[in-house]
Amino acid sequence: MAEPVLSIHGVTKHFGAIRALTDVDFTLEKGEIHALCGENGAGKSTLMNVIAGVLQPSEGEIRVDGKAVRISSPAVAQTLGIGLVHQEIALCPDATVAENMFMAATNRRRTLFMNYRKLERDAQAVMNRLAAIDVRGKVANLPISSQQLVEIAKALTLDCRVLILDEPTAALTETEAQQLFSIIRDLKANGISIIYISHRMAEIFNLCDRVTVFRDGRYVCTDRIADVTPDDVVRRMVGREITQLYPNKLGPGEASTEAILEVGGMGDGTRFHDVRFALRKGEILGIGGLIGSGRTEIAEGICGLRSRTSGDIRLHGRLQEIRAYSDAVKAGIVYLSEDRKGSGVFLEMSIAQNISVLTLKALTNHAGLLNGRAEAALAQDFARRLAVRTSGVEAPVKSLSGGNQQKVAIAKQLAVEPKVILMDEPTRGIDVGAKAEIHRLLRELARSGIGIVVISSEMPELLGLCDRVLVVREGRIAGELGAEDMTEEAVIRLASGIGTARAADHAA
Ligand SMILES: Nc1ncnc2c1ncn2[C@@H]1O[C@H](COP(=O)(O)OP(=O)(O)OP(=O)(O)O)[C@@H](O)[C@H]1O
Ligand SMILES: [Mg+2]
Repeated sequence: MAEPVLSIHGVTKHFGAIRALTDVDFTLEKGEIHALCGENGAGKSTLMNVIAGVLQPSEGEIRVDGKAVRISSPAVAQTLGIGLVHQEIALCPDATVAENMFMAATNRRRTLFMNYRKLERDAQAVMNRLAAIDVRGKVANLPISSQQLVEIAKALTLDCRVLILDEPTAALTETEAQQLFSIIRDLKANGISIIYISHRMAEIFNLCDRVTVFRDGRYVCTDRIADVTPDDVVRRMVGREITQLYPNKLGPGEASTEAILEVGGMGDGTRFHDVRFALRKGEILGIGGLIGSGRTEIAEGICGLRSRTSGDIRLHGRLQEIRAYSDAVKAGIVYLSEDRKGSGVFLEMSIAQNISVLTLKALTNHAGLLNGRAEAALAQDFARRLAVRTSGVEAPVKSLSGGNQQKVAIAKQLAVEPKVILMDEPTRGIDVGAKAEIHRLLRELARSGIGIVVISSEMPELLGLCDRVLVVREGRIAGELGAEDMTEEAVIRLASGIGTARAADHAA
């Protein structure tokens, strides 16, 4: 058999006292798509950063084409033909898409005269394979899904033999993800080897040839996809059986008619129009739709992050004056942003500080002194309930794995003890086990009378978790699906506008 393109032998990585990886092995064959699975904090991204020269291993050996190599920097990785699409988006917001895409390549082949037109033309050609994004636009103006596509396009401009994709679809919709999969299959057909990290089992089983599982920073096993089931993989990841992925929904008679939140005729003149809906007591209300359809803008409109030109918001029947986000928090409406890094958590601050930041008033005494012990206790309680994997709540959020950072973002909102939580892609990047835990917690909160609205691009989550789904298209609510008519097809039809004429006929 041919030498593997890449092989890892006995790699260990410490961060101070934390052992992220212990004696792991991994082999990548030429032209295969190899999935790497594991819970949040299992060490997946750490190993990828070691392979891509971002981190140095504490011990162990890396071989490329059978030869031991030292990947001392990302530039060395690049010359070895290794490209990494990071889990976290790290673009230069003030530069254009084209500039971002070719930053790495131009750094390598620096010339005095840069042909800017050609750069843009080349960038656009690569970008067009993924999506219709104008490469002359500034990255700062793009929604998070497009930014993720730019990260991927950037890696495609490199001439790599090994391409690592660390949760590339976390911020993509179904359609965009499908587009990416066809590109990945093309790359494979051209002999490129791919390491694919994802928490979505369906993707892994559609796309990959083999799967390796890590648990607690250790290698567990590698199998051909054809020889295992998603349940097998999940069991090996978490070390136990997960029997129920989604909590029970409301039963037929359980739906209340009492409204917690009512939105009436809300519009901002541009991105959303005449949005009206009621969130009922006890239910989990889903909001589906394509990326860019206006779901996020609607949530921002409700909680004062975006100005409205019309509409009113009632909480338990009482009209609310919400002009800024602080008004919303005061009223008891909080918003979990889809952009964790941009507005979800403060990376440099500790876990405890992040969780308490919206509740500082309650933790401060009359003289304005912060009760540090209460802050720590609050944080510890949430860290435990959400199973945040950390050495302690004093650790900075940036030291957590991606999925664990997301848990902190959720805890920060829950700590306010809100009346309504609007969650935008709440379980992005969260592993199967922790996701089931978070869904159960949301169900509990809903049952206790807290209003839960979940915006999700992940179809199984939308259908599995929510009691009712509103589908948004072009800034308007295109339709509502209840327990009986809630199917993937129905959501897609409403989201894309296909078949609505018939639905209208039906109604008439
Ligand atoms: N810079 C750092 N300092 C301290 N600890 C770190 C650092 N980077 C990672 N860790 C720790 O190493 C462990 C592995 O993290 P890693 O990011 O590799 O997990 P992961 O498998 O990618 O998880 P996820 O699915 O959440 O992305 C975690 O416990 C994390 O807290
Ligand atoms: Mg990771």
